[in-house]
Amino acid sequence: MATAITNISSLVTNNPSLGRGPLGLIDDAAVVIDGDRIAWVGTTSKAPATDSHIDAGGRAVLPGFVDSHSHLVFAGDRTAEFNARMEGRAYSAGGIRTTVAATRAASDAELEATVARYVAEALRQGTTTMETKSGYGLTVEDEARALRIAARHTDEVTFLGAHIVAPEYADDPAGYVDLVTGPMLDACAPHARWVDVFCERGAFDGDQARTILTAGAARGLTPRVHANQLGPGPGVQLAVELGAASADHCTHLTDADVDALASGDTVATLLPGAEFSTRARYPDARRLLDAGATVALSTDCNPGSSFTSSMPFCIALAVRDMGMTPDEAVYAATAGGARALRRTDVGRVAEGARADLLLLDAPSHVHLAYRPGVPLASAVWRAGVKVA
Ligand code: NIG
Ligand code: FE
Repeated sequence: MATAITNISSLVTNNPSLGRGPLGLIDDAAVVIDGDRIAWVGTTSKAPATDSHIDAGGRAVLPGFVDSHSHLVFAGDRTAEFNARMEGRAYSAGGIRTTVAATRAASDAELEATVARYVAEALRQGTTTMETKSGYGLTVEDEARALRIAARHTDEVTFLGAHIVAPEYADDPAGYVDLVTGPMLDACAPHARWVDVFCERGAFDGDQARTILTAGAARGLTPRVHANQLGPGPGVQLAVELGAASADHCTHLTDADVDALASGDTVATLLPGAEFSTRARYPDARRLLDAGATVALSTDCNPGSSFTSSMPFCIALAVRDMGMTPDEAVYAATAGGARALRRTDVGRVAEGARADLLLLDAPSHVHLAYRPGVPLASAVWRAGVKVA
């Protein structure tokens, strides 16, 4: 059964062959959904007859957001750490230990409820594709359990056994790398598509990250890297060299890092919720875009450094503080995220794409940045089903 959404004031297709500019904008647009796919895109006056019909009422539609970076399998709370930061304490990778202890102690049902809760929270705000990671278990059993739970609720699952060195291995980081690349990878590879490493001072250095990412790749997992978040380092170069789908954070970049991202296939995924919540300086999206890099925007939703599931919030930050135009930020939050996940079926509105759509209570996508903090998601379709 086909449904037409008509009278869309402004439709973001992310397909320049369908409309104006890089966003492929169509005014007075219509979209036809058939099953879980988009069957037709054009202007309202040319829309084909369909079984049912929804009037968008002169409001904007865009592809559902693609949030390519989150950490939703966790338990516990780090409000105290956030409070301390807002009193002037610096963020460090060490806080992750608090969440590891709480996550290990949690039941499967508790963890499952948490993942479901934040996926649903994101969906209500327009996120129709979400990646999530392990990384708060750090034992063979706890990491595999995190991935199994994540896979039941999200589209894309990432093995992040190398988030920090597990507390038991504090004096033997090489032993922990052996565990991650050995028994942990054996248990986790069947449940994930991606392998990630937190390549940063206080977590894993470049050599350790290379060992882990290479081992993951040999097991069929594609690398993505937490890179250059807290300071300069080898993460970005390593990501590009290994053909990672994405280098995430990219806050502290040298010119060589920017050049590598611009010339390689690795997407620069920026996570402004983390800089907001750690009161750190924002990544310079303008510099990356001007160099020709592909930029994605994601939430990094996690209880430590960025406890937001809101892509509109990240868009607003990117526009206000990272030098992005509203068009660039919306593209990064949809098509950019899809690129970072190597997906061609989401992040765009075109015939054959998955019918993931966000109807805004606003006349254009620019309002996502122009009206920060306002819940503008009026309706959300995921795979053709109206979910909010
Ligand atoms: O992406 N950077 C590493 N991991 C998370 C933080 C996790 C935490 O603090 O619990 C991040 O910011
Ligand atoms: Fe992260």
